[in-house]
Amino acid sequence: MVARPFGDKDAGGRPKPVLTVTTGLTRMSRESKVVAMLAAASNVGDSPTEPASDPARSWKLIVEPVEPFLHAVTARLTRQAREFDPQIVPYAEHALNNGGKHLRPTLVALAASCFGKPDKAHVTAAVIIEMIHLATLVHDDVMDEAQIRRGSPTVAAKWGNEIAVLFGDCLFAQALKLASEFPTPEICRAVAVATNTVCSGEILQTQQRGNFAAARRDYFRVIEMKTGELFTLSCDLAAFLSGANPEQRAALRKFGAAVGTAYQIYDDCVDLFGKEAEAGKSLGTDLAKGKLTWPVLLAWERGASADRQALENLIAKWRPENFTAVKALLVKYETFRPSLNEIERFLELARRALRGLPASPGQAGLRAITGFLAQQTAALAVE
Ligand code: IPE
Ligand code: IPE
Ligand code: MG
Ligand code: MG
Repeated sequence: MVARPFGDKDAGGRPKPVLTVTTGLTRMSRESKVVAMLAAASNVGDSPTEPASDPARSWKLIVEPVEPFLHAVTARLTRQAREFDPQIVPYAEHALNNGGKHLRPTLVALAASCFGKPDKAHVTAAVIIEMIHLATLVHDDVMDEAQIRRGSPTVAAKWGNEIAVLFGDCLFAQALKLASEFPTPEICRAVAVATNTVCSGEILQTQQRGNFAAARRDYFRVIEMKTGELFTLSCDLAAFLSGANPEQRAALRKFGAAVGTAYQIYDDCVDLFGKEAEAGKSLGTDLAKGKLTWPVLLAWERGASADRQALENLIAKWRPENFTAVKALLVKYETFRPSLNEIERFLELARRALRGLPASPGQAGLRAITGFLAQQTAALAVE
């Protein structure tokens, strides 16, 4: 899950300037991609179930079997961008052709590969889910006042909040239109239900801003809603379209929810401890917006009452300079390691869910994703 191993293109589809090479789920230069590909090709002994020491190679090994699928998704997204009204196309091209790790399409492809080869219907499902994901990001960046997404200005930063809110709605609608083209209403219904859950998760989180007790109570539920749900949908629609039986479908849903939850905890740690140049997006917005994530909630829970109060005040009267004091409290109450343990707990749940699936390239690929995420988690460091 190295960010953008697949699509370092700008809004016009041109290669972006070379950027940083990193070890996280973060940005990687074109050159490093080539090096990683060559290394992967020469490393005959590597297995996708065992992460390679180089994260780029690990990710390459995971996606290699489904690369044609992912290229088809990218091409469909580009075509989708052109379907908007001509005056909206620039926003659509900016959002849809702007890279991204395509984690959810990768899950669709691998989940489908548990039962055979992914087909065109799976590509359409992946495109729908990626568009819903993008719509939520466009809106999330408005709420977070984020400036950078996928290494480029956010839609809101480039064209303003009004355009971003309305364009996010257009993206949702376009995704639902695509979903309605399936001969069965099941897909459209599942997409609508999942979208409702994601947005409800974002609303709950917004309602709980700065409210430590409520956020502590609901943290895992909220992240499963806002992030786990689209991972779940990716696995679920793939299973449905592949004719999986109800037990297999349930196993894949469990896998998606657990990996998605682990991924959001990881992302929350990146927001506190990561580097913007590597993440390719604005960081630090969680604290600035009063979004209380697991390391912060743990410090609050473990803190002596004076420290609890200090933490509440630092976040209630947020200024960027407060970051040092918040970080000192996170270190004082040793919240980093337990947060990583939570990620591992969800990854283990995900691995267990895979036992309900046929031994297949897809099952191996999904398992490799948990290994990759564990590897990325281990690479996170508090400085
Ligand atoms: C970002 O998702 C939002 C979260 C759920 C943390 P991704 O990390 O999948 O973002 P892109 O699609 O690669 O930009
Ligand atoms: C994820 O939350 C947003 C959605 C699931 C819509 P974040 O606010 O942590 O995502 P990033 O960090 O901005 O990508
Ligand atoms: Mg955000
Ligand atoms: Mg985040």
